[in-house]
Amino acid sequence: MAVGVDVASVGKNYGEVRVLAEVDLSIGAGEFVALIGPSGCGKSTLLRLLHGLELPDAGTVSVDGAKVTAPASGRAIVFQHFNLFPWRDVVANVGFGLEVLGLDRAEIAARVDEAISLVRLDSARGRLPHQLSGGMQQRVGLARALALRPGLLLLDEPFGALDAITREGLQREIDLILRRHPCTTLLVTHSMDEALFFADRVLVMGGRPGRIQADITIPFPRPRDPDAVRAAPEFAALRAQLWSLLAESAVS
Ligand SMILES: Nc1ncnc2c1ncn2[C@@H]1O[C@H](COP(=O)(O)OP(=O)(O)OP(=O)(O)O)[C@@H](O)[C@H]1O
Ligand SMILES: [Mg+2]
Repeated sequence: MAVGVDVASVGKNYGEVRVLAEVDLSIGAGEFVALIGPSGCGKSTLLRLLHGLELPDAGTVSVDGAKVTAPASGRAIVFQHFNLFPWRDVVANVGFGLEVLGLDRAEIAARVDEAISLVRLDSARGRLPHQLSGGMQQRVGLARALALRPGLLLLDEPFGALDAITREGLQREIDLILRRHPCTTLLVTHSMDEALFFADRVLVMGGRPGRIQADITIPFPRPRDPDAVRAAPEFAALRAQLWSLLAESAVS
């Protein structure tokens, strides 16, 4: 079940460094929001706060109306660098989070099978991460997240390490998967095209300390096709708008 997100006046410091200040943000249940902003502005930090891996120094993070105080199985995160266990095969990597939750073997096996077939890795079930391409490893990361059946999916530059063709193929697949298994999604990306393809809204983050500086609604109808999105008359104007917001956020 997709869940809503509320971030109110959130601040986060690392020692003397104020990374986030007065961050406010709301995401409706089932919405897909993209977060863009210059390197180091605090995007990954914000994702970790939403997941519960870290706690804010000020303000509150709420998911589904409840304050986030620790990681929970309803929230899943996919990292840019896959973070797979090198000694675990695909099945064992996908099942990891479910083992931690203490689900019984039959339930784990059923969910792992379902997640692996969703990302079309059935033929690679017994392979170790080093025997997989980058795109396949990222599919394992995604399957591991989906196996949790999250209400909130947090994607931190999940396509950043992939070549352009693999990236677009995986984007199309993820779009299909999310249509079948709707969840609230927050995607951090450096790609404006990716943000415009996926998002209902794009948030632009910037400044030091970081905060949300703009909130742009993306009007393209769904289902979306990357080629059709790129060819849409509004595409160039939205891209230019995001570009100039990003340029402003980099210098402010
Ligand atoms: N665990 C930590 N300890 C100390 N400083 C940290 C820690 N994590 C992040 N920072 C600092 O917080 C700031 C924001 O980092 P964060 O990783 O959130 O940025 P980002 O927007 O995700 O950047 P990128 O686009 O490069 O991934 C940076 O200045 C970073 O050095
Ligand atoms: Mg980051």
